[in-house]
Amino acid sequence: MSDNNFPPEFTFGVATSSYQVEGDIENDWSVWERAGRLKEPEARAGKACDHWARFFEDIDLIEQTGATAYRMSIEWARVEPVRGEWNEQAWTDYRSRLEALRARNIRPIVTFHHFTHPQWFHDETPWHEPSCLVSWERFAKRCAELIEGLDAAVITFNEPNVLLLGGYLTAMTPPGIASGKLAFEFYANLARAHVIARNAVIDRSHGKPVTVGISQNIMAFAADRVWNPLDHALVKLSAHHYNHAFLEALHTGQLRIQMPGVMTGTAIIDGGAKSTDFVGVNYYTRTHLRFVRKPPFVEFRYRDPSKRGLTDIGWEYYPEGFGTLLRQLKRYGSPVWITENGLDDRSGARRSQFIFDHLTELLKARADGVNITTYLHWSLMDNFEWLEAWGPRFGLYHVDFDTLVRTPTPARDYFRQIATSRVLTPPPAAT
Ligand code: FCB
Repeated sequence: MSDNNFPPEFTFGVATSSYQVEGDIENDWSVWERAGRLKEPEARAGKACDHWARFFEDIDLIEQTGATAYRMSIEWARVEPVRGEWNEQAWTDYRSRLEALRARNIRPIVTFHHFTHPQWFHDETPWHEPSCLVSWERFAKRCAELIEGLDAAVITFNEPNVLLLGGYLTAMTPPGIASGKLAFEFYANLARAHVIARNAVIDRSHGKPVTVGISQNIMAFAADRVWNPLDHALVKLSAHHYNHAFLEALHTGQLRIQMPGVMTGTAIIDGGAKSTDFVGVNYYTRTHLRFVRKPPFVEFRYRDPSKRGLTDIGWEYYPEGFGTLLRQLKRYGSPVWITENGLDDRSGARRSQFIFDHLTELLKARADGVNITTYLHWSLMDNFEWLEAWGPRFGLYHVDFDTLVRTPTPARDYFRQIATSRVLTPPPAAT
């Protein structure tokens, strides 16, 4: 098999998350928006892409990408808007959506938790208190029931490290806490919640093998000042804590954090050892770190040393980091899934090249023995991008945010060609 071939069992898919596409959701993020906490204080997710109403038509769009897997998330606030009260209709609606995907030979990859919560969760049973696990278990068991018999894969949590940074260390995202002490409790409980969710799925699997993992954001790091040993020390510390500490907890059953002045602690995670069936990673970029004298002692910036031009959101275009990080994942001994990778490309002219460059790195890592079995592109369509709201465009489909009309970008056809031919060839030159 030549180096630019993907084996027949390799999965190509596309990804979204509920709050970013579904529309009309009342949750902690909508509360955050009304408090004026987005980059543009007036911005709202609102109808988003109206994917909730248009789901069955959007399946055609998924199919036309050549994808055989669709990653989507369950919106907790939709199914449990009031603590302890299910919205049964919403559960039924989710079930029929998952069945519809299955009927089209598209495997559902269901994220139980993608950043958002019902507001009551933070108010009544927040992640830093033990009661969070009671609320979570109830929800996770119901999610496990939702996917019963569908041979869906599960991602319990999306980017625990991003939630940690935004929600518990910098207060930039809900629940808006900045406390190293609570952050550690949060992180340990999230690892425990992963185990709870996996066990819930196993309980509903009737003895069949399950496919449960997480999605971790992984970043390449570099020293901002090559001559500065403190910048290098930060790179080492961050590379370990950001990329690996949580994955290690789910591999060894112990969460160990040593970030002096920011967050420290050790916790046993019962049942945590070898608790993922795949290691899911989301890769976008590299960041340069600089030591500063006041907490949290670090500043980061995106630089463009290769002069390829920053991406539209201002991140470094750095496929090489993808390959390097993928090789580090060998240590976990599980299959590796790329659960997100994509580009904010507002003109649509650069995305195909991005896909080519990243899949090239992926194939090289595979040739070096990393067992990568799945690539999910972020995203199916342009959508609501959290603090940045409506500026970025990550979609294989362009969405007109006024009319909600979806139009394929050139990368949609390029992606389909790879997904269906299983051969990586360079894209046609951008026009
Ligand atoms: C990831 C998130 C995803 C999307 C992309 C651009 O960190 O998981 O929801 O916002 O970034």
